[in-house]
Amino acid sequence: MHAPETSAMTEMTPVTDTNANAANAEAPKKMVLPDAQTVTAVKHWTDRLFSFRVTRPASLRFRSGEFVMIGLMGDPHPETGKQKPLLRAYSIASPSWDEELEFYSIKVQDGPLTSKLQHIKVGDQIILRPKPVGTLVHDALLPGKRIWFFATGTGFAPFASLLREPQTYEDYDEVIITHTCREAGELQYGAELIESLKDDELLNEVIGEGFWKKIKYYPTTTREESAKMGRITDLMRSGEAFADLGVEPLNAETDRAMICGNLAFNLELKEMLEDYGLEEGANSDPKHYVVEKAFLD
Ligand SMILES: Cc1cc2nc3c(=O)[nH]c(=O)nc-3n(C[C@H](O)[C@H](O)[C@H](O)COP(=O)(O)OP(=O)(O)OC[C@H]3O[C@@H](n4cnc5c(N)ncnc54)[C@H](O)[C@@H]3O)c2cc1C
Ligand SMILES: NC(=O)c1ccc[n+]([C@@H]2O[C@H](COP(=O)([O-])OP(=O)(O)OC[C@H]3O[C@@H](n4cnc5c(N)ncnc54)[C@H](OP(=O)(O)O)[C@@H]3O)[C@@H](O)[C@H]2O)c1
Repeated sequence: MHAPETSAMTEMTPVTDTNANAANAEAPKKMVLPDAQTVTAVKHWTDRLFSFRVTRPASLRFRSGEFVMIGLMGDPHPETGKQKPLLRAYSIASPSWDEELEFYSIKVQDGPLTSKLQHIKVGDQIILRPKPVGTLVHDALLPGKRIWFFATGTGFAPFASLLREPQTYEDYDEVIITHTCREAGELQYGAELIESLKDDELLNEVIGEGFWKKIKYYPTTTREESAKMGRITDLMRSGEAFADLGVEPLNAETDRAMICGNLAFNLELKEMLEDYGLEEGANSDPKHYVVEKAFLD
């Protein structure tokens, strides 16, 4: 869990860009930009998913669950040769105390950013705007006994942060994480992360030995055979999810929830939580649950 030493980054650092030299092969220009961070690790999970770690700006403070804008330089303008940063919102998947920053990413083959970002290697640089924001933070929830993290696809990313955040276990007796994906391979990042908590000496020492026993993990797939098939929404409606987990359905007295998935999922689950009596909260008005889109449809 501990990051290697990070080299001090100056305000103005070169950003890797494979197209930068193409415009003028004889006199390659080195681009100089603020907000550059260096890639320290990359892992490909499937042909559509990868995770990577970058150095953390010394001044960056964020709350576990928040997102930032990251990206690369865009292609040079065909006439002027000028390049602009190509940025997208990304949940920080690492917890607020980590020395590095981790991200969990989709690879959209014709996506402006991820068609390139998927090729980053250790030592490359990315742009990271150090302005964290977001609703999936503990501050936006009233005190409760159980917290539910509901994710689809890359919506797992903010929970990868919150599952490694000591406050999650200080605030709640039980932490239930559901993750619905199309295919079994898409669950791997989350499954390995949760498994790794058992042997994480630092977290077991800081939070308390066996803290991970508070976690109930409920992974499901919808389009490929796995141990549990079905959308979490359907499994909750039928009562199957609660029976499998051995827990009571949600109620506003004890339960708090965070939702991060595709738009249809977020809307459907939001309606279900409202039916259980939970109300939507915000940073400025903490209540029972909060929602954030995993991506823009
Ligand atoms: C608040 C917020 C947080 C986000 N956090 C993450 C994150 O942690 N990890 C991440 O991979 N993406 C995240 N995204 C999505 C991200 O901003 C980009 O859309 C994504 O990196 C693809 O960029 P692109 O330029 O390649 O394609 P885009 O032009 O941005 O997207 C092209 C299409 O690909 C699909 N798509 C985009 N992102 C995803 C995704 N994550 N999962 C499935 N389909 C997708 C959509 O249909 C979209 O219309 C987040 C978005 C928001 C709004
Ligand atoms: N995942 C892939 O293998 C794959 C491959 C190529 C292209 N794509 C494209 O990539 C984009 C995103 O795909 P994705 O799989 O990452 O994300 P996604 O389409 O958001 O699906 C992720 C998971 O959420 C479930 N889901 C969707 N709507 C739901 C709802 N209202 N309630 C409960 N669960 C819901 C899906 O179940 P259902 O399966 O029942 O919808 C799936 O298991 C799509 O445009 C897709 O066409 C995906």
